[in-house]
This record gives sequence, structure tokens and C-alpha cells, in this order.
Amino acid sequence: MIKSSAEIRQAFLNFFAQKQHQIVASSSLVPGNDATLLFTNAGMVPFKDVFLGAETRSYTRATSSQRCVRAGGKHNDLENVGYTARHHTFFEMLGNFSFGDYFKIDAINFGWEFLTSVLGLPKEKLLVTVYETDNEAFDHWANVIGVPVDRIIRIGDKSADKKFESDNFWSMGDTGPCGPCSEIFYDHGEEIWGGPPGSPEEDGDRFIEIWNLVFMQFNRQADGTMEPLPKPSVDTGMGLERIAAIMQGVHSNYEIDIFQGLIKAAADLLGCEDLEHKSLRVIADHIRSCSFMITDGVNPSNVGRGFVLRRIIRRAVRHGHKLEAKSHFFHQLVSALAEQMGEAYPELIKQQAIIEKTLRIEEEQFGRTLDRGMNLLSDVIANLTGDVIPGKDVFKLYDTYGFPADLTADIAREKELTIDQDGFDSEMQAQRERAQKASNFGTDYNDQIKSDKTTHFEGYDNHSFSSTIVELFNSEGSVSSLNAGDKGVIVLDNSPFYAESGGQVGDTGTITTDSGIFKVTDTVKLGNAFAHHGVAESAIQLNARANAAIDSARRSNIVKNHSATHLLHEALRQVLGEHVIQKGSLCDPDKLRFDFSHFEGVTAVELRQVEQLVNDNIRANFIRETALMDIESAKEKGAMALFGEKYDDEVRVVSLGSFSTELCGGVHVERTGDIGLLKITSEAGIAAGTRRIEAVTGIAAMTYVDEQADKLTTIANLVKSDAVNTVSKVEQLIAKSKQLEKEIAQLKQKLASQAGSDLINSAININGVKALIADVEGSDPKALREMVDDLKNKLGSGVVLLALANGAKVSLIAGVTKDLISKVKAGDLVKMVAEQVGGKGGGRPDMAQAGGTQPENIATALASVEAWLADKL
Ligand code: ALA
Repeated sequence: MIKSSAEIRQAFLNFFAQKQHQIVASSSLVPGNDATLLFTNAGMVPFKDVFLGAETRSYTRATSSQRCVRAGGKHNDLENVGYTARHHTFFEMLGNFSFGDYFKIDAINFGWEFLTSVLGLPKEKLLVTVYETDNEAFDHWANVIGVPVDRIIRIGDKSADKKFESDNFWSMGDTGPCGPCSEIFYDHGEEIWGGPPGSPEEDGDRFIEIWNLVFMQFNRQADGTMEPLPKPSVDTGMGLERIAAIMQGVHSNYEIDIFQGLIKAAADLLGCEDLEHKSLRVIADHIRSCSFMITDGVNPSNVGRGFVLRRIIRRAVRHGHKLEAKSHFFHQLVSALAEQMGEAYPELIKQQAIIEKTLRIEEEQFGRTLDRGMNLLSDVIANLTGDVIPGKDVFKLYDTYGFPADLTADIAREKELTIDQDGFDSEMQAQRERAQKASNFGTDYNDQIKSDKTTHFEGYDNHSFSSTIVELFNSEGSVSSLNAGDKGVIVLDNSPFYAESGGQVGDTGTITTDSGIFKVTDTVKLGNAFAHHGVAESAIQLNARANAAIDSARRSNIVKNHSATHLLHEALRQVLGEHVIQKGSLCDPDKLRFDFSHFEGVTAVELRQVEQLVNDNIRANFIRETALMDIESAKEKGAMALFGEKYDDEVRVVSLGSFSTELCGGVHVERTGDIGLLKITSEAGIAAGTRRIEAVTGIAAMTYVDEQADKLTTIANLVKSDAVNTVSKVEQLIAKSKQLEKEIAQLKQKLASQAGSDLINSAININGVKALIADVEGSDPKALREMVDDLKNKLGSGVVLLALANGAKVSLIAGVTKDLISKVKAGDLVKMVAEQVGGKGGGRPDMAQAGGTQPENIATALASVEAWLADKL
């Protein structure tokens, strides 16, 4: 009997393998090379280009269990998590795919056979939907499969003016593969509330969609037009959690094996006894999506994928807060998840420490503002008239306390309130505009040019290549010629220019035709074509034959940096540990930059070890080898794959001796010795848990070393030493300067005291009290306090007033011994004098200071003191 989630996953893959489907491992949650999608949201995403005919594989049938996230973007279930029995931010999608092989009829047959024969589901519990006009699917279900017609439901478009907007027309996103679909539903029984699809009660939990069979036929364009796909295909998706609920005889996904372990662990940590508490479910869902996103290289941030991750973490933390979490609990759930799913996804175990640390840092950060934000929100709610929280409050919660709008909405929903999303959006927009003004990113005209051409890259072995100009653009769009001086873009059929990818910058160089010359300033990808950006120095015509030649010297520096990056990556893993994962890289002609996961600063000793290890492997002068192989063989070979990259069936493996093996499409040195030398120039943190190393190679490394040596020589000259003795000479100088500072301080004190002794003799007697009134010109203003203390001591009992001009500034200070402060206050005295020299003052009764701006009045002011004192004493 197939029951556990693991058994169902395996049975599914086996069933389709028997039907000649290739089993394909789950890809990353971060779709490679697809800027239109935030996350992999369906099993078909890794196969998108295969459906579109832009990529071919060695098979035409595939099956997978794909990890998916539906939070943010077109398919977004975040808001439903915790409110229904079947929505998740993270889930596994079981799917079978046909790339122009079988179509509708087989897809339906396979689906039915698996559910009823392999899993043994009772036929009478199943019902199906078809797209309104899909008679072929309807007839097959009715006449061949034998589903009673009252259990086949036609679902049309949501409204007449929204063609193809239907639950039975599936699209990956706003653009991309799509087509009509047929869904299979399971009836959980009368005791559960809900109605069949298409009925007003369809949102209940009784009739649950378990499998969606999509008959892929179109590629939706940005303007909404539907281009037919090269061949009709099939994409299906069945939520593993939903089918597991059925097989395990429960009515909610949260009651299945995978979730029960997580809910139990969360309940234990939070001391919550109600295992059905909604917040426990939310937390159990969220730990899955957050952990897998981090595994796949997403880092919490305020934009894009990172912001979705941050929002989900904050939601989880808030639900923990609701259950009165005493400490940071969320990251502690990772071990329970690794236990539950580590067998199917070993990367969870491998990266457990890094997931925990990333989550903990986020928890701590948000924990600092959560309470204050909750207080503010409670106040807002208490004073609310109506049931909508104003946009400006939602914005303040976001901006000041880190409450993403959907988190505030989640809290509001529990109190039967909503948020003013439009108001929030306009506050955000205003903030964005402010920020935009502060930065000034130039926009390229890349958005306006599109190409369906394919450029073959010939630059692994060639620096120049003869080819044809197959497309030309200026800033307005496609053109048939460029005139001298025009900026534009050339697309070639074959090109030696590398188009920026995988961190390696695009090549520059020259494209020459019979009629003209085009200077290439950058090369980037444009679909499957390469866009050579630049300026025409003389006229260029479409369809002309051309000689394309890259700037060889520049390329040679770039490839040194690229190969050195591979060595650096491996060296970091060997010195710091296997948790080091590449987060980003840049290889340009001047330097390399490598971002990686690591939680503390790399010490100087570690950096030196890393640098030495790289240089050892440079000197080993390994021959660089590249080979094309299938992904499984590459993995067996131990090739490092980068998270977030999508790999084709056939991958390119770059090896530098036995030291480094990576999947990489970039260009590399022939032998590691070509790199010459690597010097690390900086190491710094750039985000929580992410470090950045910058380094130079080849000539740039030599220049760097020379510059350092020059600095040393300059220092040696300055301290009048030679290179060997510079350090001890500088140490001596520092010691000497410390000694001198000490001596100066002592001398100053002595001088002040000396001055004090001289001054003491000029004290006058006013009604039996000693008073010392003096202009101490030439003294250090900073030493005045000490002088006054000293004089007070020497007088034993008396009043002191000192004035000092320093340029245009006057410093005044007054001191009164304790026994006299009932009669004279130093603050009053200094104030009286200050007013006469253009200043203000006041202070303590025994010691007070003031300033002034009229040094010329010092003498008159001092002359007035005697009478003033005589009056008080
Ligand atoms: N791609 C289809 C879906 O996600 C199967 O429902």
C-alpha cells in the first residue's frame, strides 16, 4: 500500500519511467536565465525553453518532483496559507511532460491509470473539469474513460472580455508557454464544507483539485497575442501534499506525515498544546519555503526574491509572537525539517548551519522592532473609525518597524479589518521616486529591442571570425543600416564575442564590413542572440558579411580573472569549509570579484592561506580541460554547480587539474600558469552572511605588488631607513612620539603651576578675602581649569578670575573656594565679566567658564571685578 509522501513520490516517478519518461531531478527554486519569474512555481519551469522550441533535450518525455514556491508573482498563495487546508508557499509538484511527443489523449489516460490503478483511488470520488470549448477532452473523459457526464464540468473564461482568463487555461506567467487544461478533483466527502468547481462554494475544502493536465499549445507574448508552440505538448502538475492527504485518509494537507513532524516540533518549541492552531500551520509551511529558498541561494533583502523571503520569515516570526514565543524559535525548526526532508533533499542537511544562521539573524533583526510595531498597530486599530487601516499607517509600519504590507494585512484580517493597499502603494511610490532622484541609473535601450535569431558562439577558440550581420538596431528599433556616428546593436549569426554571462563581462572589439567599421563596446545576450552594442564609425548594412574581432588583450585579462575565480572558489571551500557557496561573481579585465556565503570576517591568516592555495595551483600549471557531458555524469565527477543556474541536459564542465571542477559556460586560460599570480586586494561583508573578496591577477597583480613595494620604499625614505629595518624604525618612532607626548603634558602642567606661583603674588585683599584677577595671556586655554584648581588650592580660601585672549576669542574662567560660595558664585562672576567682552556664561558656583568675542575689552572688564566683589563680600 502506497501511503507515505516518500512512497507516493517514488511511485509516481517509477510509473512514468515505465512509460518511457526520463526522471529529471528537481531544479533550483530560482529559475535560471529567466527574469520573468520570481520563483520556480511549477514543474514545467525548468523545461520552459524546451516547450518553446528554443532548447532541445535527448528525450521527449520527462517526469519530476519539483520543489515550487508560490509567493509573489503570478501564482501567489501566501495570503491563503493557514486559512485553507491546501495552500502552501512551498510544495512539491509531481509532473509528467511531453515535448511534442504525446498529447491530450495519452495525458488523460496516464493520469487516470496512475490515480485509479496505481494509487487505487475509487473512481466515484473523482470528478474532472475541462476548458469550456475543449470537446475533445470532454468526449474522451466521457466516452473512453467513462466518467459520468454530470461529473465533467466545463469551465469558461472569467468574463467575455477576458479571453483565456480561466481556471482551465493555465499560463506560467504573463508571458511564456500556456494552454487549456483539464483538472482532476477529489471529493473529500459530505462532512467537509464546499462545492464542486464552478459552483459558488468551490473555495471550500470538500472538492480539491489534485492534478492539472495542461495541453500546452501557445506562447503568450507580452502584448497578449498567442503564438502557437512548435508542437503541441503536455505539462501536468499534482501537488504531492494534496495527494498524500488523500492517501493518508486526512482532509487537510497539514495532517500529512511531512507536516505533522514540523507542527509537533514548533508546538514543543513554543509550548503550544493546540496542535491544530492556525499559527503552527503557518510556521510549518513557512519554515519549508524559507529553508529551501536559502538553500537555493536567496538571501533576505528588500528587493525581489530576497524581499519575498524576508516577508515570509517576518510572518512566521509574527505568528510565533502570537503564540508568545519566548525566544528566537524559527531557526530552531530547521533541524526538524532536515530530519523530515533531508533524505529527498540532501542539500538541506549540508546547508543546515547556514540556513539556521540566516534565519536567526533575520529573527533577531525583526525581533527588535516587532513589539514596538505591534504597539503602534494596536493604537491605530483602537482609534480606527471604519474597518480599513490607512495607507500611511501601513507605510509607517513598513518603513519604521519593518512590517511588510502583507504582514499588516494578515494581522488586520484576524481582526476582520483590511488595509488600504492603494494608499500604501502610493506612499511606496513616492518613496521610490525620492530614492530614484538620489541615484541615477541610466536606462539602456535594451528593452526596446528583441530578437528571435540565434548567435553561435565561436569565441572559445577564436578571437576573430567571419560572419553575417543578421539584425541591426538603433535606439528606435530594427533598421537596415547604421550611418557613421550612429549608436546601435549588431546581431551576428556567428560571433567570437562572449556575451556577458556567469559573471564574465562581455567582449569589446571591432566588426568590419566592406562598407564600414563598428566599434563594439559591450556584448550581452538577447534571447538566443548576442547583441553587440557599440557605435558605427562608418556605414553598416544589414546582411553584410563581416569580420568580427575581439580585443584580445582585454579578453586575455578577463579569462585570467575567470579561471582564478574558479581556483578561489575551491580554495575558500578548502580553507573556510563546505558552507561556502558562490553568491555572485564578476570577472572583468581589471579584477575579479567573488561573493560567497560565510558568517564572519575572513581572518588575515585565512586570507593568506586561500591566496597561497590559489597560487600553488597556478604554479602547478594544470592544463585547463573542458568537456561536454550529461548533468548526472558531471555531478558524479564532483562538478560544482551554482545555485540558481539552470543547466541543460548537456553541460560544459571546466576542470583545472584535479583541484577545481565546475559547470561553466565561460572562457578560460589554457593552463593555470597563464594566470601568473593572484593577489587578494580586499575582503569585506556586503550583506548578512555574505562576504566579498576582490583580487587581481596577471599584470594587474604585479602592478599591485609593485605599488605596495613602492609605498614601503616611500615610508622607508620618510623614516630614513632601508626596507629591512623599516618596521623597527617605525616602531621606534611611535614609541618616541608617545614618550614626547608624555613629556609635553608634564611640562605643561609644570608651566601652569609655575605661572600659578607667580600669579599668587598678585592676589589682592577685598574685605579680608583673597582675590586673584588676572589676564593670563599666552597660556594654553585647555590648561585654564587646572590653573584655577591649582590657584584655589594655593589660596586656601579665595576667589579667582582669569581671562585669556586667543586670537579673536576670549576664554574666561572663575573659581570660588567652597567656603565662599554662599557669598559669591563663580557662575555669576563669570557671567558678569563675559557680558562685557561680548559673551554669555554661567556655570557651577565653585567653577565656571565662558567665552567672548571682544579681547579689546578684557582690561576694562577685569577692572570692574574688584568693585563687584567688594559688594558681595
Ligand atoms: N503547470 C501546471 C500547474 O502548475 C501543471 O498547474
